[in-house]
Amino acid sequence: TQDLTILGLESSCDDTAAAVVRQSGDNAPEILASIVHGQADLHAAFGGVVPEIAARAHAEKLDICVEEALTESGLSLNQIDAIAVTAGPGLIGGVLSGVMCAKGLATGLGIPLVGVNHLAGHALTPRLTDQVAFPYLMLLVSGGHCQFLITRGPQEFSRLGGTIDDAPGEAFDKTARLLGLSQPGGPAVQAAAEKGDAKRFRFPRPLLDRPGCDMSFSGLKTALLRARDAIITEKGGLTEQDRADLCAGFQEAVVAVLAEKTRRALAIYLEGRPLAPVLAVAGGVAANTAIRAELETVCAGLEVKFTAPPLALCTDNAAMIAYAGLERFRAGDSDDMTLMARPRWPL
Ligand code: KG4
Ligand code: ZN
Repeated sequence: TQDLTILGLESSCDDTAAAVVRQSGDNAPEILASIVHGQADLHAAFGGVVPEIAARAHAEKLDICVEEALTESGLSLNQIDAIAVTAGPGLIGGVLSGVMCAKGLATGLGIPLVGVNHLAGHALTPRLTDQVAFPYLMLLVSGGHCQFLITRGPQEFSRLGGTIDDAPGEAFDKTARLLGLSQPGGPAVQAAAEKGDAKRFRFPRPLLDRPGCDMSFSGLKTALLRARDAIITEKGGLTEQDRADLCAGFQEAVVAVLAEKTRRALAIYLEGRPLAPVLAVAGGVAANTAIRAELETVCAGLEVKFTAPPLALCTDNAAMIAYAGLERFRAGDSDDMTLMARPRWPL
C-alpha cells in the first residue's frame, strides 16, 4: 500500500477547519496538522447558528485555515496527494464554501477530489485515533446528531436508530438557556448537576417503553420548563440548589435513555458476533462524564471495549474529514468536478 497525504476541509456548521493527515502503508495514521476556527462569538448574540453569517465566515476563513494547516504540517501544497472535503450534510452555504474551495485546490494542483459525508468523518474517527477494527458500534451524540451506527467499512454503515427530534446537545443547550446558565450548555449543566439531587425531580424517559433504538429529547425540555415554572410560581424564583437539582434530574434522564438504547443497539451489534466488540462514542456530548461513566458500565457488563476519541477529535474538526477521505481514496473511490454540496445526506 502506498503513502498518502490528504488535506481535509470542514465547513458544514459553525467551525471552519483544515487538517493534514498522512498514512504510510499500514502504519497508524498521523495528524500532521489540525486547525479549527470556531464561530461561536459571531453567533452568540442570536442564540443559535445563523446560516448566512456562518457561510460568509467560512468563505473568509477557509484559505487561512489551509495556510495555517500547511505551515503546521511543514508541507507545501505540492506534497498533498488529494483534497478531501465535507460535501454534506450541513448548512448548505457553508458546505458550498468548502466544496468550491476544494474544487479550486484540486483543479489547480491537478490532484483528486474526495467528497466526504460529515457523519462518516465522525464515525471513522476511532480508526484515526486507535485503529479500531471494523465492525464497531458508534454512538454519535452532539448538538446536531444522535444516532447508532454499526460501522462495517469506510462507506458501509447500518443505522440502528437515532433521535426523532432534538439531539441531546441541543437539549443540554436549551436546558442551560431555560435556567440562565452559560452556553454551550453541556459543560454548564454537567457542572451544576454535580451539586444537585437527581431524585428531587423525576423527568420522563421518552421512548423507553417502545422497542428499538430511536430516541426523543424534546419532551424532556418541556418537562424541565414546567418544573422550573412551578418552582418560580411557588417561591418567586430559582435558588442555586433548585438549578442544580433540575440539572441533575435532567442529566439523569438523558443518561438513562442513552444507556438503555445503547444496551439495545449493542444487542443487535453483538448478534453479528464481532471478534473484538467495541463501542465508540463521538460528538461533543461524549465529553459528558456521567454519560461516559454509564456507557463504560454498560460495556463492562457485556465484555465490550469502550473507546472515546480525545475531545478535540470528538467535536467538529477537519482531521476526521481528511482521514475519512483517505480511507475512501484508498478504497479506490474519488469524485470529479460534478461533486455536489448536499444539505441532507443520510449515511
Ligand atoms: O460535536 P459538537 O462540538 O458540535 C456539533 O453539534 O456538531 O457538540 C456540541 C454540543 C453542544 O450542544 C454542547 O452543549 C455539547 O456538545 N456538550 C456537552 C458537554 N460538552 C459539550 N453536553 C453534555 N455534557 C458535556 N460535558
Ligand atoms: Zn459534527
